[in-house]
Amino acid sequence: MAARLPDSWLDELRSRLNIVDVVADYVALKPKGRRYWGLCPFHNEKTPSFSVDSEAQMYYCFGCHKGGNVIHFVMEAEHMEFLEAVQMLAERAHLEMPERVNAPQEAGQRELREKIYEANVAAAHYFHDLIWTEEGSGVLSYLHKRGLDDAAIRRFGLGAAGHGHDGLVRHLCGQGYDMETLIKAGLCGQKDGRRYDMFRNRAIFPIINAQGRVLGFGGRAMGDAQPKYLNTSDTPVFNKRQGLYALNFVKKERGLKRLILVEGYMDVVSLRQMGVSGVVATLGTALTEEQARLIKRYAPEVWVSYDGDAAGQKAILRALDIFEEQSMPARVLDIPGGMDPDEYIRAHGLEGFQALKPIQPVEYRMKRAADGLDMTTQEGRTRYAIACCELLRSVPNPVELENYLSRLSVETGFEKEVLLSQVGRAQPAAQRPRAPRPRLIEKDEPLADFERAERALLSMMAAQLIPSDLLRVDDFENPLNREIAALLMGGFTPAAALDKLKDDERAQAARILQDAPPVEPGKALAMAEDCMNRMRRHQLEMRIEQAKQQLSQAQGEERKATIALIQRLMQELELAKTGRKE
Ligand code: UTP
Ligand code: MN
Repeated sequence: MAARLPDSWLDELRSRLNIVDVVADYVALKPKGRRYWGLCPFHNEKTPSFSVDSEAQMYYCFGCHKGGNVIHFVMEAEHMEFLEAVQMLAERAHLEMPERVNAPQEAGQRELREKIYEANVAAAHYFHDLIWTEEGSGVLSYLHKRGLDDAAIRRFGLGAAGHGHDGLVRHLCGQGYDMETLIKAGLCGQKDGRRYDMFRNRAIFPIINAQGRVLGFGGRAMGDAQPKYLNTSDTPVFNKRQGLYALNFVKKERGLKRLILVEGYMDVVSLRQMGVSGVVATLGTALTEEQARLIKRYAPEVWVSYDGDAAGQKAILRALDIFEEQSMPARVLDIPGGMDPDEYIRAHGLEGFQALKPIQPVEYRMKRAADGLDMTTQEGRTRYAIACCELLRSVPNPVELENYLSRLSVETGFEKEVLLSQVGRAQPAAQRPRAPRPRLIEKDEPLADFERAERALLSMMAAQLIPSDLLRVDDFENPLNREIAALLMGGFTPAAALDKLKDDERAQAARILQDAPPVEPGKALAMAEDCMNRMRRHQLEMRIEQAKQQLSQAQGEERKATIALIQRLMQELELAKTGRKE
């Protein structure tokens, strides 16, 4: 939301940018009329339905119905939050962030972050270069043994930390990095005047964010050394609860239908090397809310594919809860045989992996409900049935429910009717949020005549073909149109108005506002009057309809008055239809 930044500053930012230039960095655009057209970067298409309006400074895709101003474009294209997108654009426009957002003490903090990023890049190069040398040969052959090829090692920038205790620190200090930065970056330590590397004799996985910045590293021990994985501690640029491994790849993968979430770095690299796209991993902690929200930005669904061991299976249940809380549709890709995704794809190949079918959360939870119960006893089966019936309360679809009940009946020996009544009786467990609403997609529904008129007026107002005080807010009937009208009449530019709307209204507003009819400026007023007349007719028709309904219940004097009212309204309507003014 724009709430934290002053509108005037945002206007200044937008005025310094041309949306056409910004979009052109992502999409090849061709001018046609006052618009530019190109292939939509947000969905796959062969003919351009993505339009950018240089006057209104907005974009709208007629295919996937995404739209907004330049800030929303960057949010969508870079998968950023509002503030991140604004920061990126402010840099581009050479505009300082407003004081309040970027307090002076934060300037020093930002400088430190930049220095850490630089040191991280230098370290990543050091590790990666080392892997091809004698010193890194142990790590290289370890990764080869684990099935990774050189191409994957290059693609992921994997590296080697050497045997010595200070190879990296000497290298980076030699390049002019100061110790303080290296320590704050979590790359090195210092004790009793002795400098040492954090990562020694490990395979190195650089963790790179969607913007291509190196945040930190995960280091896999050789053999059984402990800890098996060492991760960069939290630093001013890295928080393992917030990032995800391999986001830098996901960002380039357009139109993903799902992400696959795995536990380990190795799983990601290995699945991706084998040709699976959209794979990410958490960074050595259980899934957090922040990560779930991050995942939500990249795909409409996530498949949780954790290790087959007990810990992994327990973590799946927790992850499902978190995704549900975040209204993110999730399914489980349950790996058979207690294997890791990495082990499974090595054993069964890409086809074998792709043949695994993701299952619904409720099905997975039912499977887990049997854990620890002895299903050969009546007691075990009964407790299992009760637990499952509880879970089945969340299934809204009777056909699906029927399926689950049939299976449960076979597994437990209870009649389906008995199970069904148990489902009805089960206490509403700690109420789970409902399944997420499907995304709001604007259909090309036929519009009522008055709505078309309202839209035409709004777009002419936006294009400054007519003055915005020609009408009143109340003249607009459709709630969204009314909201847009209020913003334009309140002095917001069309692009600024979009910041004030809810996410699901914004795209439609962008479409309306950049849809000005091709009218010469001299004829705009006449056209506006025609629109206003059509809106007026609609309002009269509604009032007549209302009065007619009143009439059916009215008695005596009231009845007379209502009849008179209807007659007057009908006359007005007649006049409006013949186009004459009262
Ligand atoms: P796993 O132990 O499942 O790793 O931990 P893995 O991917 O199967 O490792 P390999 O195949 O034996 O090399 C999964 C993730 O948990 C974190 C790491 O992020 C790891 O990728 N982890 C694990 C740690 O942070 N520290 C550890 O000591 C172990
Ligand atoms: Mn694992």
